[in-house]
Amino acid sequence: MSLHSLIRSGKVSVFLLVLLCCPVLCSGIPDPAYRDYLIKEEMSRQMGGKVPLTDAEMQLNAQLQKMKRQEMGGSQFPPAMHFFQAKPLIERSAVYSFIQRMPKGAALHVHDFAMVDTAWLVKNVTYRPHCYVCFTDDQSVRFLFSLQVPKSIPHCSAWTLLQTLRAKMVNCTDLDDSFIRNLTLFTDHPEEAYPSQDVVWKRFEQAFLVVWGLVTYAPVFKDYFYEGLKQFRADHVIYLDLRALLPETYELDGKVNDRSWTMRAYQEVAQQFITDYPDFLGARIIFTVHRYVCSAVRITEAVKEAMRLQKEFPETMAGFDLVGREDAGRTLWYFREALALPKDLGDNLPYFFHAGETNWQGTDVDQNMLDALLFNTSRIGHGFALTRHPLVKELSRKMGVAVEVCPISNQVLKLVSDLRNHPASELMNDGHPLVISSDDPAIFGANGLSFDFYEAFMGLGGLRSDIRMLKELAWNSILYSSLSSQLKDKAMDMWTKQWDKFVEESLSYQN
Ligand SMILES: *[C@@H]1O[C@H](CO)[C@@H](O)[C@H](O)[C@H]1NC(C)=O
Ligand SMILES: *[C@@H]1O[C@H](CO)[C@@H](O)[C@H](O)[C@H]1NC(C)=O
Ligand SMILES: *[C@@H]1O[C@H](CO)[C@@H](O)[C@H](O)[C@H]1NC(C)=O
Ligand SMILES: *[C@@H]1O[C@H](CO)[C@@H](O)[C@H](O)[C@H]1NC(C)=O
Ligand SMILES: [Zn+2]
Repeated sequence: MSLHSLIRSGKVSVFLLVLLCCPVLCSGIPDPAYRDYLIKEEMSRQMGGKVPLTDAEMQLNAQLQKMKRQEMGGSQFPPAMHFFQAKPLIERSAVYSFIQRMPKGAALHVHDFAMVDTAWLVKNVTYRPHCYVCFTDDQSVRFLFSLQVPKSIPHCSAWTLLQTLRAKMVNCTDLDDSFIRNLTLFTDHPEEAYPSQDVVWKRFEQAFLVVWGLVTYAPVFKDYFYEGLKQFRADHVIYLDLRALLPETYELDGKVNDRSWTMRAYQEVAQQFITDYPDFLGARIIFTVHRYVCSAVRITEAVKEAMRLQKEFPETMAGFDLVGREDAGRTLWYFREALALPKDLGDNLPYFFHAGETNWQGTDVDQNMLDALLFNTSRIGHGFALTRHPLVKELSRKMGVAVEVCPISNQVLKLVSDLRNHPASELMNDGHPLVISSDDPAIFGANGLSFDFYEAFMGLGGLRSDIRMLKELAWNSILYSSLSSQLKDKAMDMWTKQWDKFVEESLSYQN
């Protein structure tokens, strides 16, 4: 209705009244109070949205959010970049420094031979006596400890004693750096080095072959695990559910120790570590087997072995999982008979399946998350594809099955490039049960949990997620761990003490 027709129709006084007194209602702008209500309602669903804060925590939160806004307004935003290029920026970030000092609870998705900084392997382990190296046809290396020159292996040069090799060199830096590059995917030009998932997975798996001869040497095996716990503790983590292949280990004279030796070594080293550092709670082991080197028969044997180990080491053995690139391997459903074995035998073997670490929608592999839930998995490793399956997502929430989100791993292995587009962002905004972990930090040039927490807080959580989200992530890591309810209580007490101290110290440090 035009103004002219309004005047003619005698409605002009009403028109003026509305225009003068009530511009909002008249202009068609929706009710701001209703809008505020909806915004608050949505925010309360976000991870951390219902977490209460003390006055001190609120004060600290205000400081954190100020830092976060500043960093999000900067010219470069690390979560939008490849981690290899973002890492130096993150290391200079105030938010990262905050997260690094913060007690983060437990690391629930970490693999046995990717825990420890690769520089330690080269500078410490390869400098031990009796360490041999051979150079492969495809420009990689293999290591082996031995009293005598080992028997040569296919596609590799003759074995050379490293001590002899280094003695002939004026400067070993270049050689050592080349070893470090073989043990990690880290490079300044990731896009050129790893143009596809196939290429990056090939290098990823090769890194495990390089580390193998070092870490399966019995004395190194124990030192490596101890060093790994040390590095996670230094990153303010108190507990690990460690996925472990439980290989046979070897001694200098070639003698081989069986899988029980390996389990016992984990148990004893963790116990020693707790004795040395009583502010740490320990580690439990999820026995993992490769999904594609194994026939169904071998998986059946592995499941039986897992049940046996569970009886022998009830406190240390947490459960069972299959590892390796999902897209290249058999599905969980393919192994259904083997995986049903514990239930058929009246046993209870907890599962912690990797599932949904794929971009391929609608494939058989894409059903792994559903099958993991049907087999009563305790958690889902990655669950990258979960948001594409609304029903499976609903089921996992109802069953209280947390997703283990590993942002840097997903980026380096090329499921997503800009972490703002990571699907777990949606899960977080919807308060879905999840934890943040680091998968293979050493291979990605990361360590502990802090880099992944940073990416999750800044990239996945967005501007509105705050200290309450970080707190809920730490709680979740304990709540969804494999620990008994008694040990969960103990972990929670331990964490709460460290957290309160952190809040107090951060406030006095910044004031
Ligand atoms: C290697 O680390 C062990 C502890 O794990 C330590 O005792 C030893 O001195 C280190 N050796 C070198 C060469 O750094
Ligand atoms: C691995 O080490 C070998 C031997 O030093 C070297 O020639 C090769 O370039 C290294 N690989 C990478 C990816 O740097
Ligand atoms: C060894 O070589 C590296 C670079 O190749 C160099 O940075 C370093 O200073 C050298 N060290 C010595 C002791 O000459
Ligand atoms: C999973 O748990 C449900 C409910 O407790 C049970 O009915 C079902 O048999 C279990 N399935 C397996 C494979 O253990
Ligand atoms: Zn993994």
